[in-house]
Amino acid sequence: MSTARPHTGFQLRFVVGSARDTPLRVVFRPARPEDLADVHRTPDPQAVAPSAAAPSVVGRIPVRRGPGDVADAAEFHVLTVDDRVVATVGLRPLTSRTTGTTGTTGAAGTAELHDLWVARGWRQRGFGRLLLACALTRAAAAGFDQVVLLPRTAAGWFHRHGFTPMGLDVLPADRRAFVDESHGPVLLGRGSEPGHAVDLLSRLSDLRVTFTRSGRELRWDPAEDTILLLADSAGVQLDSMCWSGVCGTCRSTLVSGTVHYLSEPTCDLAEGEILPCVTAPVTDVVLDV
Ligand code: FES
Repeated sequence: MSTARPHTGFQLRFVVGSARDTPLRVVFRPARPEDLADVHRTPDPQAVAPSAAAPSVVGRIPVRRGPGDVADAAEFHVLTVDDRVVATVGLRPLTSRTTGTTGTTGAAGTAELHDLWVARGWRQRGFGRLLLACALTRAAAAGFDQVVLLPRTAAGWFHRHGFTPMGLDVLPADRRAFVDESHGPVLLGRGSEPGHAVDLLSRLSDLRVTFTRSGRELRWDPAEDTILLLADSAGVQLDSMCWSGVCGTCRSTLVSGTVHYLSEPTCDLAEGEILPCVTAPVTDVVLDV
């Protein structure tokens, strides 16, 4: 059986707006050798404190290596802003290791997500959701039907994004040996997602769009495509003209949250300003309009 390996060359591009930035160019791509940072020797991966896996500088990937937890740098993908790494995720094929090394039958097309990491300073800004959406679509593109992970922290966050507890039998024996189940189920899993990560962002969990001046809070509906269309359908009045990111008439201040651009804005925007006519939410958003 051939081993399913992450493809090289898979790349996604986003333009992202947040309350603190002018539009950011974000790229999801395979890690390069120069992205790698320290190699941490960790004999028991379950005992790793989150801080132990954090690199000392933003912009490089921590790769942990130890018995039973050999992180292959080739498994990593990164999110970059201006070619600076701000988040990482590893995608480790499990299927062939399960069938090939133990003789047991594993679920077909299963990969383990590991080392999901967002650099300090980039957290609470939607990059975790962006990273997860990219990883799930990347997994599908690489032929994995489902992904599993062993969350060291933030299990609730993964539950909110569609992960449910799974039996450990999907893990190869050498990996399973390091898992401590004494505190209950520890493995979470969900299906991968074919398609584009941008489409998935809207479906990962419920999102709210709040307009401060009218006091309206709307549930995001992916069928509306953009925040301006959502507002228009709900009777929230926003100034607008071109509806295509050109004239700048709809520019609005983002009080909190992150959006992604469906098409590049062609007018100038100040820090924290976005164009509702060409954006959709990545997280809950609050707009000062
Ligand atoms: S309506 Fe013209 S940029 Fe949004």
